[in-house]
Amino acid sequence: MVNSAWWASALSEAVNNEKPLAVVCNGEELALFRDGQGQAFALEDRCPHRRVPLSLGCVIESGIQCGYHGWTFDGASGACTTIPNLHANERVPARYAARPYPVAERNGFVHVWLGEGEPNESVPAATYQPEGCEYTGAGTISILHEEYLAAMLDGPHCLISFDAVKMTDFFLGDPRLQDDHLVLDRGAVWSTRVLPPQFVVDYPLIVRTSVPVRGGDIRVDLLTEQEAPLCTVLIASGANRRGTTSICWRGFLPQSDVSHVPLRWRVARKMKRPPFRVHTQVDGKLLAALLEAPSRDLARLRDSSLIPLRAAV
Ligand code: FES
Repeated sequence: MVNSAWWASALSEAVNNEKPLAVVCNGEELALFRDGQGQAFALEDRCPHRRVPLSLGCVIESGIQCGYHGWTFDGASGACTTIPNLHANERVPARYAARPYPVAERNGFVHVWLGEGEPNESVPAATYQPEGCEYTGAGTISILHEEYLAAMLDGPHCLISFDAVKMTDFFLGDPRLQDDHLVLDRGAVWSTRVLPPQFVVDYPLIVRTSVPVRGGDIRVDLLTEQEAPLCTVLIASGANRRGTTSICWRGFLPQSDVSHVPLRWRVARKMKRPPFRVHTQVDGKLLAALLEAPSRDLARLRDSSLIPLRAAV
């Protein structure tokens, strides 16, 4: 099964016109690269000649060149444009083409349309406008992709942490559907508070997780009680091989008033240290202890948006 949607597959800055980037996004193996004008392209990471990964080749003026026999493929159409040693009276057969994927860039990610035919949805909205220092990263985590999304709702502390912040199990309202994402607010406290969380009756912080019904772009916001943003993190996630999940992320601290936040947070900001950490290892015990609650709604919504894989290839 495949989730037919725009998938954020890589950080924009990781894709260049020097070396193709191999990514696995929702189970699809892709080679990403740019041309000299900065236009990004995605082709199936398999040469139609002898099935060698195209990402092992190199980027040249006219496209991507396979590292094995030097065939060249056009980024936009996937068509083979050059075969070395072809006689002057021979033409490149049209059937030698790599599968191209529609590509769009938004929010600092290269998005690839995975699914049947031409995109029938608009590219995700440009909702991420970083200010000041930005922090990025990428990794692979040993957890199924659907489990990763579920844990982001049931227990985001297993997957992301903010400096000096303790997330609680107290939901501030029911999950709501917003722009094709299931959004859930949970209470959080500064970990420097003297009272243990069970005696806390008000929550000075909100952790808002927005988990996609289609695709894999997750947004996590740390907000004050008045919903002023303290930190925003976008995480692109997709199924990798053998039950693992690829993730890459970018986040920033808005230039809001931080006079009331703990010293540790302010020091991190002054030193330009990231005040959040996206985990690339998961604590199985912690994960197993999570109650399945809001993620049940997500599973139901995502199931109804799936299309059979055979229709997508
Ligand atoms: S395997 Fe790619 S050109 Fe032969």
